[in-house]
Amino acid sequence: MSERSLAVIVLAAGKGTRTRVSMPKVLLPLCGAPLLEYALDAASALRPEHIVVVLHHGMEQIQEAMAARFADAGCILVDQGEPRGTGHAAQRALAALDEHVGGPFQGDIVVSYGDMPLITPATLADLVQCLHVPHEQAHSGNGHPHIGAVASVLTCDSLPSDGYGRILRDGEGRFLGIREEKDCSPEELEIDEVNTGFYAFQGRALRECLPKLRSDNKQGEYYLTDVLGLLAEAGEDLETVLTFDPDETIGINNLAQLSEARWVMQERILLEHMDRGVIIEDPATTVIERDVEIGAETKILPFTVIRNGVRIGSHCEVGPFTHLRVGATLEDAAEVGNFVEMKKSTLGAGSKAKHLTYLGDTVIGQRANIGAGTITANYDGTNKHKTVIADGAFIGSGTIVVAPRRVGEAATTGAGAVVTKDVPDGEVHLGVPARLHRKKTPDKPPEGQGSPEGQGDAS
Ligand code: UD1
Ligand code: MG
Repeated sequence: MSERSLAVIVLAAGKGTRTRVSMPKVLLPLCGAPLLEYALDAASALRPEHIVVVLHHGMEQIQEAMAARFADAGCILVDQGEPRGTGHAAQRALAALDEHVGGPFQGDIVVSYGDMPLITPATLADLVQCLHVPHEQAHSGNGHPHIGAVASVLTCDSLPSDGYGRILRDGEGRFLGIREEKDCSPEELEIDEVNTGFYAFQGRALRECLPKLRSDNKQGEYYLTDVLGLLAEAGEDLETVLTFDPDETIGINNLAQLSEARWVMQERILLEHMDRGVIIEDPATTVIERDVEIGAETKILPFTVIRNGVRIGSHCEVGPFTHLRVGATLEDAAEVGNFVEMKKSTLGAGSKAKHLTYLGDTVIGQRANIGAGTITANYDGTNKHKTVIADGAFIGSGTIVVAPRRVGEAATTGAGAVVTKDVPDGEVHLGVPARLHRKKTPDKPPEGQGSPEGQGDAS
């Protein structure tokens, strides 16, 4: 799209007092990742040369939590100092960018926010596109080469306008500037079209105007919005892009807005899976965080929670009421059912754990049956230990496997067995603690030790 290079500035220095939680706002989790991660994703998707992140409140904590991601994206981090408005934040960002490139950055600059996770790369790209194509409302006359707009603004006319800057236009509908709500006259407050806060600027236009900002307004802040007014006054070409999807511009100021954003993001995630052939019986009661892989023709049944990073093969069945946590993997045609929790565990192809089970730090081979009420006791109070359950094993109902332990290939445990020793391939172990059950002994096991037959549940 562009021969000019691109930088994205992400503003995230605000305090976020309205969330009433101590964690920095941009670290609040949304579908399994901190808010700021979404802003960085949208920024990265534009393939910019530079991403500048403006921080201040909670900066250390944010840097620590996001270190890998900042490094990956090659972010330039800037401490704004005491935040004095979005214009002040942009000044700091541009100064850091210029310093980074060793001179005035000549490319395009997109401004976005750490607390607006739903914006899509496509919408941001539309804003940049405005800087590269001539448009209807072009009113040149400033002596600069006339290619596209010098700046573009994403606006919206279907938001409850509270708190948003209003878009001012002249009689012909030409953009004049943005008035912050607190500075609006009663007539201006009636304007429906509002500023979403997303912009694209030609670098030189932003650089020329930022030093001219003044803080003589109701909030005593340097408003980035005033840059648009200054450019309009100077007769520069400006473009407004009206969003068709107001959801993209939901900003998170409080926890209610966080849950509103979660609904939107959750729906996007579920639709992506459905698009790839995942059958989700009841989207309303299904939580699937981001970065989850699910193969085609897998069924996800209601009241299921699948956390970030889980991998599920095809033709599996998950739920109802299943909790798959970090590091859970289901190979093709594996099945997990009601009240089964898996963490850092793999269930091999065709294996089943259908009822009331905890599998932690466990690797289960293929075609194993994990009976109702199985627990891998992986934690001794200090350390976590691994369990291996090999191909074709049959774990009787109510078995507790005290890790570290291996249950061998085609081995069996009886109902209620407490497995404190490895079970070799093909052997049957019963009781508490579980001991080898020899074929020669009568069919009926000793009193109170259960029988391997019919105790697991493959249904
Ligand atoms: C801003 C816009 C307003 C727009 C609204 C959309 C200005 C002056 N106003 O208002 O027109 O309708 O967004 O949401 O820009 N931030 C910093 N440093 C600062 C101040 C803010 O990094 O010094 C960051 C905040 O962390 C936040 C974002 O910028 O992520 C927006 O700041 P905020 O003070 O919430 O601006 P609004 O009043 O919402
Ligand atoms: Mg805001």
